[in-house]
Amino acid sequence: FWTTRSLEAALTATTPPSVDGFDPLDPETLQCPYPWHRSLRERAPVHFVASRGMWFVTSRELVAKALADHDTFSSAFGLPQMPVPDSIKAEVEAIQAEGWPPVPTLLTADPPEHHYYRRMLAKAFTPRFVAQLEPEIRAIARELVAALPVGAEVEVVRGFAAPLPLRVIARVLNVPDDRIDDFKRWSDQFTATVGGQLDDAGLLEQARNMVEFQKYFAAELDDRRAHPRADLLSGLVTAHSMDDADEPLSTGAILNIIVQLLIAGNETSTKLLTGILHELAREPKLWDRLRDNPIDYAADLVEEGLRFLSPVQSMFRITKAEATLGEYTIPAGQLVVLVFGSANRDDEAFTHPDDFDPARPNAKAHLAFGAGIHACLGAPLARLESRIALEELAARFGSVRLGAGNDFAYEPSFMLRGLQRLALEFGAD
Ligand code: HEM
Repeated sequence: FWTTRSLEAALTATTPPSVDGFDPLDPETLQCPYPWHRSLRERAPVHFVASRGMWFVTSRELVAKALADHDTFSSAFGLPQMPVPDSIKAEVEAIQAEGWPPVPTLLTADPPEHHYYRRMLAKAFTPRFVAQLEPEIRAIARELVAALPVGAEVEVVRGFAAPLPLRVIARVLNVPDDRIDDFKRWSDQFTATVGGQLDDAGLLEQARNMVEFQKYFAAELDDRRAHPRADLLSGLVTAHSMDDADEPLSTGAILNIIVQLLIAGNETSTKLLTGILHELAREPKLWDRLRDNPIDYAADLVEEGLRFLSPVQSMFRITKAEATLGEYTIPAGQLVVLVFGSANRDDEAFTHPDDFDPARPNAKAHLAFGAGIHACLGAPLARLESRIALEELAARFGSVRLGAGNDFAYEPSFMLRGLQRLALEFGAD
């Protein structure tokens, strides 16, 4: 049956297997991708997914390897968006022409550009800066918690998990309260095509929103150039460009940084908080533990929430040269999907990985914030605001349970995962 040559070839095979029938955008897969991840991992940690022409890396070990090898696995893949169909390309481009062309900075840049922008932002996002935000984050959380009803059903994405990080990042970017709704709309519009799909009308609406966003912030930047203040935007307008120390940073580059902070700093944390609240509502013992020991337990819940939920389910890379991952070879120029959601539930790294267990000793080994040069810049802020949110909820409410009006539908994206809505009922005791 096996000739010596075919056996040899099988043993030294370097081409990853191809999977048919797996579509990351299939509605059922988006609703719950974990059985698919498991079946992919069990067959091989690297697969070519023919339906989308992408390579999926699913084991913790190989996702970490690819993250560490940024020379081969490039982040310069453009925006992580689905392509615009030819039929409306010209119309979309005409709208975009009114704004600023994208300048890759952090998430979608490689060194040396990445290094330059990262260092600049890291100077602003210091532990001190994040720590200084604590009183304000707590005040926002307290105000939102106070508005939640006792003994009545409330939809907590809209009522809590979305406004908290949105208002925090708006505070970081000094967006006034009366523009918060616009800020939310822009963020929703940006993320609609991150690992998901829009129809033609939706794509045109998205392009219009992006230009509106750009014009708003370009005016804010002009204001900071004329009247600098002690804020992040003023810091960005006084920074110099990478190529010329006499030239200021371009408006296009600053707008790109702002978009990344807006999306990364808001949708992800919303999804994390919502998912943790869902787990708390499912298991009353967890809420009791949080009430007994809010400070330590909130931190454990956040860490296990990051592992278990992986709000950023996956990120793209593009192979700059032929790449070797473990025993597999991926040709140059291929789109590779690093599936954090799968890596974080790999049995090789975590015992009973499909259980939500805040007591697990090694939850921190997750890759929910990525790793390497692109590791999440906002991780300390995300941890802090999620922890404060849980502490404040536990200080006011004695219990939480699932409301009756839940459909448990997830956002239709394979890159950002989270419940669209979550109805909960908080109890006084
Ligand atoms: C990068 C996850 C919150 C800003 C990343 C990456 C992941 C991630 C996985 C790496 C992407 C890659 O390797 O290509 C998350 C999660 C969050 C969160 C799960 C919340 C639960 C935040 C917040 C901010 C932020 C609050 C900012 C205020 C960024 C930025 C990058 C990044 C700027 C790009 C860094 C670079 O390319 O050097 N995040 N993030 N994130 N995150 Fe976060």
